[in-house]
Amino acid sequence: MARRALITGITGQDGAYLSEFLLSKGYEVHGVVRRSSHVGFTDYRLRWLGIESRVTLHDGDLCDLSSMIRIVELVQPDELYNLAAQSFVSASWDQPILTANVTAVGVTVALEALRIARPSARFYQASSSEMFGLAQEPLQNEKTPFYPRSPYAVAKLYGHWTTVNYRESFGLHATSGILFNHESPLRSVEFVTRKVTDAVARIKLGLATELKLGNLDAQRDWGHARDYVKAMWLMLQQPVPGEYVVATGRMASVREMCQIAFDHIGADPDRYVRVDQSLYRPAEVDALQGDASKARRVLGWRPETTLDEMIREMVDADIERHSEGAMRARRARSISA
Ligand code: NAP
Ligand code: GDD
Repeated sequence: MARRALITGITGQDGAYLSEFLLSKGYEVHGVVRRSSHVGFTDYRLRWLGIESRVTLHDGDLCDLSSMIRIVELVQPDELYNLAAQSFVSASWDQPILTANVTAVGVTVALEALRIARPSARFYQASSSEMFGLAQEPLQNEKTPFYPRSPYAVAKLYGHWTTVNYRESFGLHATSGILFNHESPLRSVEFVTRKVTDAVARIKLGLATELKLGNLDAQRDWGHARDYVKAMWLMLQQPVPGEYVVATGRMASVREMCQIAFDHIGADPDRYVRVDQSLYRPAEVDALQGDASKARRVLGWRPETTLDEMIREMVDADIERHSEGAMRARRARSISA
């Protein structure tokens, strides 16, 4: 019989790639989706990957314990991946309580649903390198002390320790993946890599003339979401649950990442990039660089995509998207003329 996976946050970037990966492994894939008045829009990432008809979606909300228990009871998953979150760091200063409810307390909701309705299932918590924040060591691994710098990071730290606590208190197979930034053509456009590749594509097509950014000196360890979801799955295949850092080990600044994107269209970023002070954060995470040697040693995981390859893939996907959009607009104009 096919193994069953339940994914919260299935409509997000990682949820879509994880679904695709689990389907390729023969899993029956179920996901929790929030009700939206925009019917037929929320699953656009699953449609982009061409897998929307191969997953089963259930209406529910990570803030609503009864809906989570109902879904876990119905699906009886072998593995539950808790990916749902308010995941945009900037927004967490504007909506700190919502962020705490979803990103922090939501983890307790997912774990409670599992403990009550399916305690034998394995649990994955999407923890984050943001928890290292004001990094206490130049290379961060599972033993590096945490120093969160945003309401989002504080919420993720709660979720991380709750996962450890449910493992130690109730014997659940609960694992926390401390993933560094990972991106893709399915990344939401508010995050810096996609904001850059989207703007670069529009500049290339003559649809934009500038790109406003905040702190160009911030440094991140960026990998590809397609590679990182494999690490999530590998973690749940281990007999013993634990914590794993997942990262490429290469750090680059926002400025360097921009250069890669502009180079791909043969343009000079200095002509287009404007620094906008309003995009700076109240407290910044200056630099993150991960040491994923445990994941390499125990899981046999390593990243397959370089930063340059990923940024070029994202620029190409955005050029394609905007070319289709521009074509449709031209067609509509010629019909109405
Ligand atoms: P994402 O694209 O922002 O997806 C977030 C998902 O959570 C969406 O499906 C969203 O649904 C869902 N969601 C939000 N609030 C919910 C609620 N109350 N109930 C149910 N679902 C809810 O994030 P991602 O990049 O895929 O990241 C996945 C997870 O990994 C997140 O927990 C994130 O914090 C964490 N993480 C991400 C990275 C990274 O670099 N990508 C790194 C470390 C950790 P809608 O589609 O309806 O909005
Ligand atoms: N979003 C954004 N927009 N970031 C900008 C901009 C801009 O215009 N200009 C500079 N930056 C800088 C931010 O200040 C930050 O230092 C860096 O670019 C990365 O920002 P994001 O892409 O928004 O990602 P993040 O690092 O804050 O958070 C992402 O990674 C975390 C893992 O470390 C998210 O995916 C989180 O959910 C995830 O946990």
